[in-house]
Amino acid sequence: VDAAGTRVFDLDIRAGETRFHDGPATRTAGVNGAFLGPTIRAHRGENVAFTVHNGLGETTSLHWHGMHVPAAMDGGPHQTVAPGETWTPKWTVAQPAATLWYHPHLHGKTAEHAYRGVSGMFILDDDDTAALNLPDTYGVDDLPVIVQDRDFDDGNQFDGSVPFLGNLGALGDEILVNGVLGPYTEVSTRLVRLRLLNASNARIYDFGFADDRRFSLVGTDGGLLAAPWRTTRLQLSPGERAEIVVAFRPGETTELRSYGGGEGLEGFGARINGGADRFDVLQFRAADRLTDTTEVPAVLGAAPDVDTDDVARARSFELAGREINGARMDMDRVDFAVREGSTEVWEVVNTNGYPHNFHVHDVRFQVLDVAGGAAPPPLRGWKDTVLLVPDRTYRLAMRFSDYSDPDSPYMYHCHLLTHEDEGMMGQFVVL
Ligand code: C2O
Ligand code: CU
Ligand code: CU
Repeated sequence: VDAAGTRVFDLDIRAGETRFHDGPATRTAGVNGAFLGPTIRAHRGENVAFTVHNGLGETTSLHWHGMHVPAAMDGGPHQTVAPGETWTPKWTVAQPAATLWYHPHLHGKTAEHAYRGVSGMFILDDDDTAALNLPDTYGVDDLPVIVQDRDFDDGNQFDGSVPFLGNLGALGDEILVNGVLGPYTEVSTRLVRLRLLNASNARIYDFGFADDRRFSLVGTDGGLLAAPWRTTRLQLSPGERAEIVVAFRPGETTELRSYGGGEGLEGFGARINGGADRFDVLQFRAADRLTDTTEVPAVLGAAPDVDTDDVARARSFELAGREINGARMDMDRVDFAVREGSTEVWEVVNTNGYPHNFHVHDVRFQVLDVAGGAAPPPLRGWKDTVLLVPDRTYRLAMRFSDYSDPDSPYMYHCHLLTHEDEGMMGQFVVL
């Protein structure tokens, strides 16, 4: 924190080497290290400022996924950082506590730079959330769980190539959690909060525990749910986050897994899209004595309540192939303008036979309904990225409260990174 009270972060994007397997090290990239980056943490209302130095040796950018941020600070494809240059975004944190993340966003290169390892978690705190009795000791009972799949070639190098016939992009057969293969963690408390981030390029996970125990979903992309939702499975597509609280028994060892299947990944064709793949993700080794903690509160936050009585515009988006509404991303074309202070409802449908997802910069949205019915429980909280199961229309309500800027567009896109790079992205400005 500097003299003016601004929280200052120095970030250096760089190339490096990481030893995942015996034999040659893997050429990787990271932020302030060889693979992945530090967890950034800031409080609602705080001013934050960054020096983002690009030591990667090629142009890249750094985007704050989920952040309500002025468009010129967003780190999207227009805020590129040339090799050796430093970018200095700053803004005031103006949103509730949530688990966000950062990653590169250079158009056409996002998949490659993210696969090499340039990403990290960005946690926002606020007083209301701190006052709840949720596990919140970072690294003890509040753990970041950044999940990525990777393919290694015979020389131990990352192979991010897209398989012949695969629809989604690069699918790896080994799982990294926080950059570690075959990970485990010690557990010393009965309840543990996991901040799950699907930071994979293409893979969709269906998380659950080895013994199918129930856990509580307490937060989604944009913050806490109104109330915990008890479940045994949770599906996350690339870019989505979830906060869950799980209870452990003294002395036990168990695993978080990804089960095959899940919405949009069942039936014909699912196998080539990873729907048949199962993984152990993270092992938990509980101590013989566990510190007891209070139960998860029954009331967590406020349910999303976007006022749709006065919707300025309804828009529709059809995702198919690598296009949105029949067009691919063009850096020089702004697709539309929204009015500052207005509420919009976006109807989004994937008319392909395989999954896409949909992410909007700058805002958190409320899923009003899915295929005309109520949004399922995991989509009832604030979201910024949502899986699009084929042929279902998702109606998303969002408010563009401020930050008008005619010169800097925000992005909306499929977060399967190969799709995004190949053009499944559009741009809007707030005026
Ligand atoms: Cu996670 Cu446009 O980004
Ligand atoms: Cu984003
Ligand atoms: Cu897609």
